[in-house]
Amino acid sequence: MNGFLNESNFLMVEEGFTTRDLLENLLGELCQESQQQAFFVADLGDIVKKHLCFLKALPRVKPYFPVKCNGSEGVIRLLAELGAGFACANKAEITRVQGIGVPPDRIFYSSPCKQVAHLRYAASHGVRLMAFDNEVELSKVARSHPRARMLLGITADPIPAAHPSLSFGSTLESCGHLLHTAKDQALEVVGISFHLGSRGLEPQAWAQAVATAQLVFDMGTELGHHMHLLDIGGGFPATEDTRAPLEEIAAGINSALDLYFPEGSGVEIIARPGRYYVTSAFTLAVSITALEEIPVEQPGSDEEECGSKKSLVYHLSDGIYGAFSCLLFDSPCPRPRLHKRPCPEQPWHSCSLRGPGEDPSIAEGLRLPQLHVGDWLIFGDMGAYSMPTSALLTAGCAQARVTYAMSRVAWKTMQLFQGKAPQTEDERESLCTPLSCGWEMAETLCVPPVFAPAGII
Ligand SMILES: Cc1ncc(COP(=O)(O)O)c(C=O)c1O
Repeated sequence: MNGFLNESNFLMVEEGFTTRDLLENLLGELCQESQQQAFFVADLGDIVKKHLCFLKALPRVKPYFPVKCNGSEGVIRLLAELGAGFACANKAEITRVQGIGVPPDRIFYSSPCKQVAHLRYAASHGVRLMAFDNEVELSKVARSHPRARMLLGITADPIPAAHPSLSFGSTLESCGHLLHTAKDQALEVVGISFHLGSRGLEPQAWAQAVATAQLVFDMGTELGHHMHLLDIGGGFPATEDTRAPLEEIAAGINSALDLYFPEGSGVEIIARPGRYYVTSAFTLAVSITALEEIPVEQPGSDEEECGSKKSLVYHLSDGIYGAFSCLLFDSPCPRPRLHKRPCPEQPWHSCSLRGPGEDPSIAEGLRLPQLHVGDWLIFGDMGAYSMPTSALLTAGCAQARVTYAMSRVAWKTMQLFQGKAPQTEDERESLCTPLSCGWEMAETLCVPPVFAPAGII
């Protein structure tokens, strides 16, 4: 083991003990103290499993986890232990991972537009790998960090016209000029980077992007750059209900890599999977702190048919400016589960969920049984983009505390594989052992899909 994570960093749970049990224990303690603060339970075993699956599906690709996706200490410690690298967007994120002892050669300063002060910080802390996609950035780097190893970010979006403002990187036409300028400024360009976005892309999108990257690799090599690193970005599926599972996407990427960057070509491949790693590992418990009843006036509405003419607004102990900041990105609001089973005869009402003092709702159009102040709602799949940055925190929500847990089986598996993909059939078999201590499907309450208001997507 590498010393980033040890048994004091998480609760070791024995076989048969589930996230639900852990939540029950924590809720019991909180109720005794009349506490209502939202909290997360994180199953680190789930992340171990995701990591091993990633290495198995994409054996040539080294993951660099984007810290902005989840910068919580347990996640960084675990991924550092597993041998992953980190993609940092700014000085604060670099400081965070270096504070845990991650060496600078495992850090990629991935933001293509950086503050000069942050560039200088990276230079003085040994972080050399960084992205750029414009000329202004090149001049800044030449002045503040001349020893940087640069990756040219390209747009490889298969449907750029649909999302022009969201596309990343420079166009194919500008690549030659940028590579020239870098050469003139004596900057080292070591490869190409792209990020296709996180919109549930078709597997062939990656293959097309890899082909485009190869064209730009050739341009760079002709201009005298030693091109040997390809970054294929993030956007890998977070949950099983996505359009294409990881294995299908990986098959497309692997064949494109074999075609355009075959093994032996000397090109190292990295990726930045964020939500893939952490989404399913985190469960959030949020309490109801207040409720408002709003009479439903429209005759003939569903409520009238059910005999209950009211709509409810539940105010929760966390919201959009806290753990639900994931809604500000492209994540749909996860379906809540009730902590306690409602009585069967209780009427169901139309309701919406609000964070503390917030105007935008977390969710609207839900149907739930009548709940009370002090009841808790449980949200699964909350690991990605739910740890707000300090800027958002000032808007009113304290960061929800995280309790990390890992099953003994997962801990042992981690020690066995030391962050490497299982090679033999036997090893693959043991990987299939359920590592996660997640909720069982049967415990999920049947709640219709939740729609976040259009204004916050
Ligand atoms: C530039 C960039 N790289 C990587 C990621 C990670 O994406 P995901 O969490 O979908 O894997 C993001 C997410 O916003 C991003 O903006």
